[in-house]
Amino acid sequence: MSSAGETASGKLDCMSDYEAMPESGAAATGHLHECATERGDPSFAQLKSAGLDSRAVSLIVEATIGARPRIVHWGESLPDSTPEELSLLAFAQSPLGSATRLIHGSLSNEPGTGIATAPGLLVQREGTAWTVDLRVHSVAKEGQATLVITCTDPRCGITATYRFTLCPVTGVLSAQTVVANTGESGLAVEWCAAPVLPVDRRLEQVTGFSGRWAGEFQQETTERFRGTYMRENRAGRTSHDMFPAILLSGPCTSETHGPASAVHLAWSGNARLRIDTAQDGRAFLQAGELLLPGEIALQPGESYASPLLVAAMSESGLGPTSQALHAHVRRNILDPRTNDKPRPVHYNTWEAVYFDHDEARLKDLANRAAEVGAERFVLDDGWFGSRRSDAAGLGDWFVSKDIYPGGLRPLADHVRSLGMEFGLWFEPEMVNPDSDLFRAHPDWVLGGEGIEHVPFRNQLTLDLTKPEVTDYLYRCIADIVEEAQVDYIKWDMNRDTVHPASGERGAMHRQTHAVYALIDALRERFPDLEIESCASGGARADYGVLQHTDRVWTSDNNDALDRQAIQRSASHFLPLSIMGSHVGPRRCHITGRVLSMDMRVASAIVGHMGMELDLEDETAEDRATLAAGIALYKQHRGLLHSGRFHRIAMPEPFNAVSVSAVNGDETIVSCAMLGSLPTSLPPRLPIPGLTPDRRYRVKLVWPQAPEFPGTRSIYEEADLAGEGLQVQGAALGRLGIQLPLMHPATCILLHCKAEH
Ligand code: GLA
Repeated sequence: MSSAGETASGKLDCMSDYEAMPESGAAATGHLHECATERGDPSFAQLKSAGLDSRAVSLIVEATIGARPRIVHWGESLPDSTPEELSLLAFAQSPLGSATRLIHGSLSNEPGTGIATAPGLLVQREGTAWTVDLRVHSVAKEGQATLVITCTDPRCGITATYRFTLCPVTGVLSAQTVVANTGESGLAVEWCAAPVLPVDRRLEQVTGFSGRWAGEFQQETTERFRGTYMRENRAGRTSHDMFPAILLSGPCTSETHGPASAVHLAWSGNARLRIDTAQDGRAFLQAGELLLPGEIALQPGESYASPLLVAAMSESGLGPTSQALHAHVRRNILDPRTNDKPRPVHYNTWEAVYFDHDEARLKDLANRAAEVGAERFVLDDGWFGSRRSDAAGLGDWFVSKDIYPGGLRPLADHVRSLGMEFGLWFEPEMVNPDSDLFRAHPDWVLGGEGIEHVPFRNQLTLDLTKPEVTDYLYRCIADIVEEAQVDYIKWDMNRDTVHPASGERGAMHRQTHAVYALIDALRERFPDLEIESCASGGARADYGVLQHTDRVWTSDNNDALDRQAIQRSASHFLPLSIMGSHVGPRRCHITGRVLSMDMRVASAIVGHMGMELDLEDETAEDRATLAAGIALYKQHRGLLHSGRFHRIAMPEPFNAVSVSAVNGDETIVSCAMLGSLPTSLPPRLPIPGLTPDRRYRVKLVWPQAPEFPGTRSIYEEADLAGEGLQVQGAALGRLGIQLPLMHPATCILLHCKAEH
């Protein structure tokens, strides 16, 4: 513990790795100091983490008591440079024709600092107290990995606590801003970004994630420009079209080279991400919750916490940022209970029966699903109330006795007798106006007074800020989970919430937290219950919801060709272990495209595999192929869900990805040819992640009986189905293996195993 005088006057906080920091509470007394660089005597706080593949990461914050804090360095460590040197290296003069000294960015770029780019904190007390100027009050370290910088503005009555954690293993940064009202009147918070990140000037390109229903995770890349790049989500869920994330890269950045960063906001409600590039060329990234007018009104003593910003940075391209984020999700976000369990093969009933439930038929489907190797049977929409279509019954969470006279238990027991877990679909936050629930409680929905409800899949959003609503939902869900011994919930959410008002007030913030709390309460009551986050496919797939759930439904689109693109793009943030990917029907219900079972299986294996089709409609041959594919998934899921994921750079029309064991022992590669080949021979396929000086045996493990057109190919020549090709890791990584000629819409899986 250091006294206030010590911290305010000296270089006390210039820290090396894991050096102890003063306990929180070490405070500055007396007057506020000038900007640190003007004083010429700054103090620095530092976190350093191992990072994957020895790429240590550090965060250095100039945090001089009484001065404004600022990030000096975030990225791969520069081991022989001191914070002072890095700070000096970055010293910039004031531009001509501007303020007499350069105004630095701070952790909130507050309006009171005079910085000309957009503020990261907008607050006011009835029009006053908005020119906030936060100065460091204390610096503390929690454990080895967390740095807490507390700043105050006594004039405005505000304290901001900035919390940075660098995962000691992955080097991933998690950062949060908490603003507290220390004044004596109400404080309106209009915007409170997670700590503002200065953008490395080399990162000239910005990639955002757009999309639509059944077409999630589409990337849009643009050159960074002076002015504001901004994306806002007002859908009341993570949304199909504004996944809250940004990739930043340099003009020559690839998967394996160049500076890159990947930034995500762990939040399932409304969000805003922006990059402001000033006229002087400096740029700042902000990510936070998009708040509705008046939504956050802090009474004295109350505080507001921004969602977590989660970010990875690499000097070796976008591949390492994804690998670090995947490892971070597995280590720090997901529940170890489910994370350590092999991800079971799903059978989902939706595309087999839709709303046409029949107990005998479902039991037969369960038999067929078990036969091909399913390990979890998920009964989708249509089992409750008057839910015979999407027009009625939502909200009435009582088993339809006309279909299931003995409740769900007989079906669930049948499923379990086949060795499968029993999963059940719910859409707790929603109600059909044509439901007993809505007839009894028309006031239980979100919506502005006097504003017409806009229909959206015939449903309205329940107001979960009302305790009576969450009590009702909790009781209904818990009763059914208990009665039918439900192992798994597919938790859906099928509309945008466009009028998120509870009474007169904006309620999206409270609603989002209420959903998280409801899920947590159920998990507490049923510790083995697993939950999937679905929202018309992938509209609620984010790190916020993953703190409470175990899997996401990536997209309603089961077209294997479309899935190749969706899953490749989602892999920038989502690890394969939580990415639901199912074998769909031969003719895709959404795109109408007909694809072989070989192709459908190959695409589903690279994720958390399942199936969602009427097995009676498939030929015996295709069912046998599916069973073989499921067996292959089971053989390799340990590797798929724990290894390093690589997006391999290949020309169109190829999509190649691989997962390599962290110890270099093995790798599995998926290479799909999505369209027609422009050249008459295909290219070579490099295989990353292998140890250069080890020898590997490469085999083609899928499809079982490939049909490569043309003359004898490498498949026969190198005996890829038999003994396999034996070659060094370096040659496979650098030169790659020549692909055989492939038909469009086919995919091969290769497995490389190190020789001992
Ligand atoms: C959403 C989901 C589907 C299915 C239906 C049921 O669209 O994304 O997987 O569960 O709802 O109504």
